[in-house]
Formats: sequence, structure tokens, C-alpha cells
Amino acid sequence: MSRKRSDLSSLEGVGPKTLEKLQELGVASVEHLAEFTVEELVEAGIEYDRAVKILQQALQRVGSTQPATLRELRQRQYRVFKTGVAEFDEKTPWRGVREAFIYEFAGEFGAGKSMLAHQLVVAALKESFTAKAVYIDTEGTFSPALVEAVARRFGVELEKLEDSVVVYQPANVVQLEQIVKYDLPRHIGEGCRLVIIDTITALYRAEFVGREHLAARQQRIHYLIDWLRRHARTFGLTSILTNQVMDVPEAFAIGVKRPAGGNVLAHAVNARLLMVRPNKTKPEGYMWPLDVPGMAPDVRIEYRITEAGLE
Ligand SMILES: Nc1ncnc2c1ncn2[C@@H]1O[C@H](COP(=O)(O)OP(=O)(O)OP(=O)(O)O)[C@@H](O)[C@H]1O
Ligand SMILES: [Mg+2]
Repeated sequence: MSRKRSDLSSLEGVGPKTLEKLQELGVASVEHLAEFTVEELVEAGIEYDRAVKILQQALQRVGSTQPATLRELRQRQYRVFKTGVAEFDEKTPWRGVREAFIYEFAGEFGAGKSMLAHQLVVAALKESFTAKAVYIDTEGTFSPALVEAVARRFGVELEKLEDSVVVYQPANVVQLEQIVKYDLPRHIGEGCRLVIIDTITALYRAEFVGREHLAARQQRIHYLIDWLRRHARTFGLTSILTNQVMDVPEAFAIGVKRPAGGNVLAHAVNARLLMVRPNKTKPEGYMWPLDVPGMAPDVRIEYRITEAGLE
């Protein structure tokens, strides 16, 4: 705690008053500060010139103003963990889930989204991709028993997971935003590199009802995803979002589903897959890439649903 404080106050222009404002805002560290915009700091009561000055220093400290050459970009190695869904680990470009990416898995009820979400927590912890995983459950469907079953399947001792999985159950959009903006950076400070949001659009759809609120809803979704992007850039955080689907209203498109959240979400995520379970009496389905860089749109990733997750 004292380290974090001296951290922020080591910046030129951060006196006791500004430090207090930053702490009130919930800024946890210099790295966290570097994620804010000037406007957000001004809104918290810091004068514009000072906000620019301390932000510039914070950005310099984390090095995000440094350019990279094409060679460096081409040689960059990304950390990846295997999901345990065999075809996903075979057919996706990174052969698993990649660091600093935002994934979206959309699908109808019962497609296996929540199962996959639980499974990815165990898989990432097993491979030490992350030291801690944050699971944001907006639907109240988080299941310790399922984590236990997956852990057994993966050969991970439950004891090892017990303190490494942190579950939030926000009741509304404001709480969700608080968790992503202010709680996540604290967990990141303790080694968290994976966050799950199951599901991303549910709270927004419940809270912003009707066409007249659509623009506001889209802005708020965009704002949340933008914070996930900031965490990806600054800390290499990987986000897994699940999403509901909606019927496409156009004629001749009967039975066609599209992820909720509109274009805002489509543009903001790095990899978007649709999960389909054609026959609800059968424990099987397939995923296909709606938009995954480096992956042909006709590839099918078949999976089986078991009591211990997808395989
Ligand atoms: N042991 C099992 N064997 C086969 N299928 C199972 C088993 N246990 C649960 N299921 C089924 O797995 C499916 C996947 O459920 P899951 O909760 O992951 O769906 P979801 O995509 O999250 O749906 P929703 O949109 O309702 O949240 C459910 O239909 C459930 O009935
Ligand atoms: Mg679910």
C-alpha cells in the first residue's frame, strides 16, 4: 500500500492534494494512471495542465509511447494457453487463447458458453498463464461444482484454485464498470492476466430498454470494452466475453442469429466466434469464426459437451 502511494507521488506534479484526488478516484498505481485519459482526470477534479503533465510521465514510465519496428512486431512472441477444446487448440491461429486479446464467444442458450468460461479459468491457471483469474458473472450462473469437475478432468488440485479464482456478481452496469476500471488493476497487480465476463451484454440489455436508449447503451458498452483494451495494452490482460444472440430481422434470414451488442462490440473485440448447438438433445456443437484474424470463415471447430466442460 505504502509502495503504491510513493509510486504515484514520485511523479512530478503529484503533491498531497493531487495524490488524494487520484486515490479518491481509485487509481492504484502509476501503470493504472497511465490508462486514464486527460478528460477522466479532469473530471476527477485535477486541473487540465497538471493532468496532461502527470499522464505524460506515467505513459513514459510504462513505455507505451515507445514505437516498435516491423521486425520487432514480427518477432514478438505471445503467451498462449491450451483450452482443452481439442479442435480450438488445433485450428485457431494461436492454437489456444492468446495474451492481450479480447475474445467473444456468442451463442444461444445451452450452447456451452458458461461451461467454456469455467473451463478457461481452470486451463489458464493450470498452465500458469495467469496467477489469478477474475470471473464476472452477470447472470448468477457461476458454479463452484463445475470448476471442481473441470479441475478433476485437468488434474489440478482444487486447493490450488480456491484462492486464485475471484468471482464478482455485479447487479448493474455501474458496478460492472467499477470492477473493470478499479478492481481489475488491483488483481492485475497480484498477477491476474485473465478476466471472464459471462455475459457482456446482459446487464446493458436489461438496463437500457427500448430504442430511445440504444445510443446510450452502445456508448456504455464501448466504454467498458475500451477499458478492457487499455488493460490489454498496458498489462497484457486477456478478456473472454460471452454473449447472447439475437434473431436477424431481415426477410429471408429466418433462423439466422447475430451476437447482441451491435457494431460497437463487433469492432472492439479481437476475435469473435459463434457457438452453435443445432440439436439441444445432443451434447455437441460447433464454433465458427465470425471474425478471427488469420482464420478462414469456413473453418468449423466441433466440440462435445461433457459434465466436466467442453472437449
Ligand atoms: N453432463 C452433461 N452432459 C451433457 N450436457 C450437459 C451436462 N451438464 C450440462 N449440460 C448441458 O450443457 C449445456 C451448456 O450449458 P451452458 O450453461 O454452458 O450454456 P450457455 O451457452 O451458457 O447458455 P445460457 O445462454 O443459457 O447461459 C446445457 O444445455 C446443459 O444442459
Ligand atoms: Mg451461460
